[in-house]
Amino acid sequence: MNYKDYIADIPDFPQDGILFRDVTPLMADGDVFKKACDEIIAFAKEVNAEVVVGPESRGFIFGCPVAYELGIGFVPVRKPGKLPRETVSVSYDLEYGSNELQVHKDSIKKGQRVLIVDDLLATGGTVDATIQMVKELGGVVAGCAFLIELAGLNGREHLKEYPVFALMSYE
Ligand code: PRP
Ligand code: HPA
Repeated sequence: MNYKDYIADIPDFPQDGILFRDVTPLMADGDVFKKACDEIIAFAKEVNAEVVVGPESRGFIFGCPVAYELGIGFVPVRKPGKLPRETVSVSYDLEYGSNELQVHKDSIKKGQRVLIVDDLLATGGTVDATIQMVKELGGVVAGCAFLIELAGLNGREHLKEYPVFALMSYE
């Protein structure tokens, strides 16, 4: 089985010039979805993760099964105005457009080992913003896990200090 057979390549989405890697076919196949999550779970065990942090929205899809399997918590990182209690926030640039992310201020304990899970690493803006918030709350970034890395966009430049797992890489 080749994971890339379950990624749909969509030219010019969501705007001209972007080749969008769509993970929904992988999610829709129960065996492949489970295998992919199991690989992230193995990485989470290696780095001794104590909590999973996932950015909206695809980070929820892959982060929650990991937290559930390990019996640890899941903390959502959300777009502005979605979280009801006190938050910290960071603004950042995307491969296309810009964004702001927020997390509840009391969601991570001081010294807690955090695994950040998302579907895709592109420019690294999302994971970088997430790392900044985790650190601000006193968490320790134990590692970062992705299904896909778009290596040509150099997102790893933001992640030199941390263990990184990526199931697939595209130039
Ligand atoms: C996508 C993707 C990552 C991020 C990667 O999410 O799921 O979170 O972009 O890009 P970066 O490395 O350049 O920051 P998006 O913001 O499109 O949100 P969505 O999951 O809600 O569609
Ligand atoms: N696919 C999915 N999400 C993304 C991409 C992509 O190619 N680039 C930035 N976010």
